[in-house]
Amino acid sequence: MNITHLYCSSCERTYDAGRLLNLCVCGKPLMVAYDLERAARTLTRETLSGRVASLWRYREVLPVEDDRNVLSLGEGMTPLIKAERLGAKLGLSNLFIKDEGINPTGSFKARGMAVAISMAKELGVQKLAVPSAGNAAGALAAYAAKAGLPSFIFMPNDTPRANIIECQQTGAHVTLIDGLITDCGKIIAERKEKEGWFDVSTLKEPYRVEGKKTMGYELAEQLNWQLPHVILYPTGGGTGLIGMWKAFDEMEQMGWIGSRRPRMVTVQAEGCAPIVKAFAAGTTAGADVPNAHTVASGLRVPKAVGDFIMLDILRKSGGTALAVTDEELIAAVREIGSAEGIFAAPEGAACLPALKKLLAGGKVDPGESIVLFNTGTGAKYLEAFS
Ligand SMILES: Cc1ncc(COP(=O)(O)O)c(C=O)c1O
Ligand SMILES: [Zn+2]
Repeated sequence: MNITHLYCSSCERTYDAGRLLNLCVCGKPLMVAYDLERAARTLTRETLSGRVASLWRYREVLPVEDDRNVLSLGEGMTPLIKAERLGAKLGLSNLFIKDEGINPTGSFKARGMAVAISMAKELGVQKLAVPSAGNAAGALAAYAAKAGLPSFIFMPNDTPRANIIECQQTGAHVTLIDGLITDCGKIIAERKEKEGWFDVSTLKEPYRVEGKKTMGYELAEQLNWQLPHVILYPTGGGTGLIGMWKAFDEMEQMGWIGSRRPRMVTVQAEGCAPIVKAFAAGTTAGADVPNAHTVASGLRVPKAVGDFIMLDILRKSGGTALAVTDEELIAAVREIGSAEGIFAAPEGAACLPALKKLLAGGKVDPGESIVLFNTGTGAKYLEAFS
């Protein structure tokens, strides 16, 4: 294993690897550090080609010591699809969609959970718990089943039906709450000690972000080691954004890419846009969102523990943050679907109206390479289309 230690994303503290940890004692997320020189001895751009077609192809820069603890349902290595017809409509020559909807359990949440539950198994966890807007719950339920561990899931009671049913059918203990994901998180925080649950909330343990970072590795590999100019990413807790940024740094340290970075663009829904508001206000913490609402349930995250990390990345990358309305993002599902044959989740579809706003404002050049992240499948949101 190439992990050297864990470090805090905010203060100077470091922690030994191989311990079961949630947040730093200062309350901020912990991140994983690797001996990248050692990793790069066997993990090279050239050796990748013959490897397994899942995120585990990047084994040297992932946690998990013992191969027997690796849980896989085929997560990762999703296609990067050239959106020719949609691109032509918008006057863009290099528009791509990274289609995360074909992951196990139908969303990119499979990446984070595959790695986090593999690590939880390795570190001896007995029971798992998560608050979820829907897709993280489905992914936890599936990987907990694969690990043979019980999972306890707390979701808002208006979570899409498909998410609730898939959790039940993959053996999770599901509790529906009259409230938001943040209320679900509070219940877990209150009960976890007594119940013996390990909390796998976004960024409240260090390994989901390690799974999500593989989106950054894949983008580089699929674009022949030229990162795109712009990445649009539908942001709730922000794990993918934070993970990809970490992946870019790791790849640079291994000599795979240079120092140029994509402009990272956070897309949120108008009914819940704490990062967009904070970005515009120039602050370092997410804004307060009273009454958070949007049909894009994965974007209904009024307070993200990693808000300050996201805001830093958006600013450092020269990117931005914008919000779209529910009407715009729902209309975009059909527009993407009929142009490209991809039935996108409302969260992923939100990237299209956001891109149109960037184009209208002259913020992207038509020749630039642009990647929209479709983070899940629309098939889980049937209520949103009726
Ligand atoms: C389909 C989908 N897209 C985007 C998000 C937001 O992801 P993150 O919390 O990593 O920002 C979620 C989270 O639930 C989701 O389910
Ligand atoms: Zn700290």
